[in-house]
Amino acid sequence: MATELTIALAKGRILDETLPLLARAGIEPVDDLNSSRKLVFATSQANIKLVLIRSADVPTYVQYGAADMGVAGKDVLAEHGGEGLYERVDLKIAPCRMMTAGFADRPMPRTRLKVATKYPRITRQFFLEQGRQVELIKLYGSMELAPVVGLADIIVDLVDTGNTLKANGLTPLEHIMDISSRLIVNRASLKMKNQPVKELVGKIEKAVK
Ligand code: PRP
Repeated sequence: MATELTIALAKGRILDETLPLLARAGIEPVDDLNSSRKLVFATSQANIKLVLIRSADVPTYVQYGAADMGVAGKDVLAEHGGEGLYERVDLKIAPCRMMTAGFADRPMPRTRLKVATKYPRITRQFFLEQGRQVELIKLYGSMELAPVVGLADIIVDLVDTGNTLKANGLTPLEHIMDISSRLIVNRASLKMKNQPVKELVGKIEKAVK
């Protein structure tokens, strides 16, 4: 019998761009992932199933082996830390940049800089490497509002077209890292299910090219 494999995916842009890659690798879900309320999906390959979860949870499912593989943004992976998993393929989808942003013409405060973000780990690391002391304010979304209402001096967030920043009078300031989605693999799965995992990773890699 073929080895069972579970792939963790998250709804949204990443999913929309991942499904064609999976299809090219011969894996097609039997239901419509976007309209269904189900969380586990069978695919055209009897031994491969998909689980649909929040994007920030994908590395955790893969870390603990609840999923053998997953697709997650580099932002989510860097924030998670990457324990227990390997980043195998840059899928080159959903590309954007992680940046600091603020008001271009506003002088930086003399006291400690206040930074609002939903990426505390990445932000702490970035400012630590520069020897800059900052006060982190953890948010869960709509970071762009924080400088506008005086909650923070700057933000750390993803920038794609720059339209969201612009619409709120903000400017991208410092580049932190380039972001794209990655195929990640559970470390134990790569050992225990080496042949089917490697085969599937190879097929997806080929689909990207
Ligand atoms: C992201 C990000 C910015 C916006 C940037 O949010 O947090 O708000 O996109 O894109 P732009 O530069 O093209 O305007 P997203 O819409 O993914 O929602 P989220 O806040 O839930 O992550």
